[in-house]
Parts: sequence; structure tokens; C-alpha cells
Amino acid sequence: MKGRLLGGVVAAAVLAAWALAAVTGDPGALDAHGFMESEERCGGCHHMEPDGADWLLDPHLFVRPVVPMCMECHPSDRIGRSHPVGVDPYETLDLRDLPEDLPLHWSDDARAEVMTCGTCHDPHGPRFSGAKLFSFQQPYPGTGGQYLTFFLRVRGETPREGFTPLCHRCHPGL
Ligand code: HEC
Ligand code: HEC
Ligand code: HEC
Ligand code: HEC
Repeated sequence: MKGRLLGGVVAAAVLAAWALAAVTGDPGALDAHGFMESEERCGGCHHMEPDGADWLLDPHLFVRPVVPMCMECHPSDRIGRSHPVGVDPYETLDLRDLPEDLPLHWSDDARAEVMTCGTCHDPHGPRFSGAKLFSFQQPYPGTGGQYLTFFLRVRGETPREGFTPLCHRCHPGL
């Protein structure tokens, strides 16, 4: 992550613009989640300690619950397609195995690990891709023809599939 963001020689002007966006998660910035890549910030969310290039503990353990972490900037009334969070898919759906690429998380008031925003979204993921996610998706302004990935952990092979490959992981019948 560090390599991707800071690797090579970065012009001072670019760094300054990034630092500005980093403070608020600037809605206008193409690198909207860039603030999450700053090393001083990792410990504000993760139970991790830097150990050279490696991390000592599980990156899926957090110092505070994930849902409110996201909702600081994404209050629920602004989320178009909302999905239940805080639920245990093993209990509510008849699932035997959740794939490892859809992590569950502990929260303060649950006895089991539950679904959070971070189950479907990897907030560190690439924000843009050359591949359309759904047929009528428009390129994002200012990116030279790139499409939002919505930070989704599972994306289809073709835009015709839309979001269904993600949904099918847990709702095979959908
Ligand atoms: C605003 C909170 C926040 C900050 C700051 C943050 N992360 Fe994360 N990180 C998350 C969330 C949420 C996830 C997704 C849930 C998961 O993977 O369990 C995640 C996932 C990860 C993952 C697992 C990715 C995967 O494949 O699932 C790694 C590794 C990681 N973060 C490293 C870091 C490092 C290193 C930093 C600092 C440079 C950092 N994070 C800063 C919230 C944060
Ligand atoms: C400090 C503020 C901040 C936090 C915390 C934050 N985001 Fe974002 N996020 C943004 C901004 C800014 C955008 C750009 C679009 C906008 O303005 O809403 C964005 C965009 C998104 C998008 C839409 C796709 C896109 O590229 O525009 C998703 C999905 C998303 N964030 C998920 C998450 C999740 C999941 C978390 C919690 C792990 C999270 N965000 C935490 C600031 C934040
Ligand atoms: C079951 C998977 C799933 C979960 C859980 C989930 N999302 Fe999403 N989210 C999606 C999908 C799929 C989209 C695709 C775009 C759309 O429908 O708007 C999306 C879109 C978004 C967007 C951008 C679109 C918009 O309307 O602004 C944001 C921001 C977002 N999610 C944040 C969150 C946050 C915050 C949470 C936790 C409270 C969350 N998501 C939980 C699947 C999920
Ligand atoms: C990680 C597993 C997982 C994924 C991925 C997932 N879901 Fe779900 N979904 C659940 C669970 C768990 C529930 C809650 C069931 C309950 O509470 O009875 C649920 C409930 C729902 C419901 C019922 C809504 C409600 O308010 O009760 C709908 C509709 C739904 N999902 C649609 C989707 C769609 C569309 C997608 C793909 C964008 C998706 N799901 C992806 C696990 C998942």
C-alpha cells in the first residue's frame, strides 16, 4: 500500500494536494480514500503495529466498530443501496462457508462476527478501473474513461452481470 502511494519520486505539488485531501476525504479528490494510506492513521482503525514492512496482527481486527467508522463520512441517508449490516450470515442465511474474501468483523454488541460495510467494500481497494461494472455505467469525470469500482470486493467478468456475482456469494438463489 505504501509502495503504491509513495513509491518512486512524487512531485511535491502532488504530495501537497494529497495531504490536503487526506484531512477530510475530500469529495472532489479523485483519491477520495487516500487519507487511509497515511501511516499515522492505520492504528486509528486497525489493531496493528508497524513491524518493518510487515504487520504483527490480523488486519481484520479493529480498534473500533467498522460501521460507524464508515458512517462518519457516509451517513446512512446518503447511501443509495443500503444492505443490512450487523447480521451474522451463518445464522440468518443457511450458509456453511463464507468465502475468505468477504471478511466479517466483531462489533461491540454482537456475540459473533457480523457483516459490516467492510464485508462488501475494501476501502483500500482501487477506486477506478478500466472495466465497467454495469452496462449503463458512465466513466467518471476527469479520469480519462475510468469507472468507479465502488471498492467492491467481488466484481463480475462482464458488465452484464452487474452486482450479482457479489450477491451470489451469500444469496445463491438471487
Ligand atoms: C478509516 C479506517 C482505516 C484506516 C485509517 C486504515 N484502514 Fe485498513 N482497513 C479498514 C477497513 C474497514 C478494512 C476492510 C475490512 C477488512 O479487510 O477486514 C481495511 C482493510 C485492510 C487490510 C486488509 C485488506 C484486505 O485484503 O481485505 C489491510 C492489509 C489494511 N487495511 C492495512 C492498512 C494499513 C497498512 C493502513 C495504514 C496505512 C490502514 N489499513 C489504514 C479501515 C482502515
Ligand atoms: C474521512 C471520510 C471517509 C471515510 C471515513 C470513509 N470514506 Fe468512503 N468516501 C469518502 C469520499 C470523500 C468519497 C468520494 C465520494 C463522495 O464524496 O461521497 C468516498 C467514496 C466511497 C464509496 C463510493 C465509491 C466512490 O469511489 O465514490 C464507497 C463505496 C465508500 N466510500 C465506502 C467506504 C467504506 C466502506 C468506508 C468505511 C470502511 C468508508 N468509505 C469510509 C470519504 C470517506
Ligand atoms: C452486501 C454488500 C454491501 C454492504 C454490506 C454495504 N454495501 Fe455499500 N454498496 C454495495 C453495492 C453493490 C454498491 C453499488 C452501487 C450502488 O448500488 O449504489 C454499494 C454502494 C455504496 C456507496 C456508493 C453509492 C452511494 O449511493 O453513495 C457507498 C458510499 C456505500 N456503498 C457505502 C456503504 C457503507 C457505509 C456501508 C455500511 C453501512 C455499506 N456500503 C454496506 C454493497 C454493499
Ligand atoms: C456476505 C454475505 C452477503 C452478501 C455478499 C450479500 N448479502 Fe444480502 N443479506 C445477507 C444477510 C446476512 C442478510 C440478512 C438476512 C436476515 O437478516 O434475515 C441479507 C439480506 C438481504 C436482503 C433482505 C433485505 C432486508 O432488509 O431484510 C436483500 C434484498 C439482500 N440481502 C440483497 C442483496 C444484494 C442485492 C446483494 C448484492 C449486492 C447482497 N444481498 C449481498 C448477506 C449477504
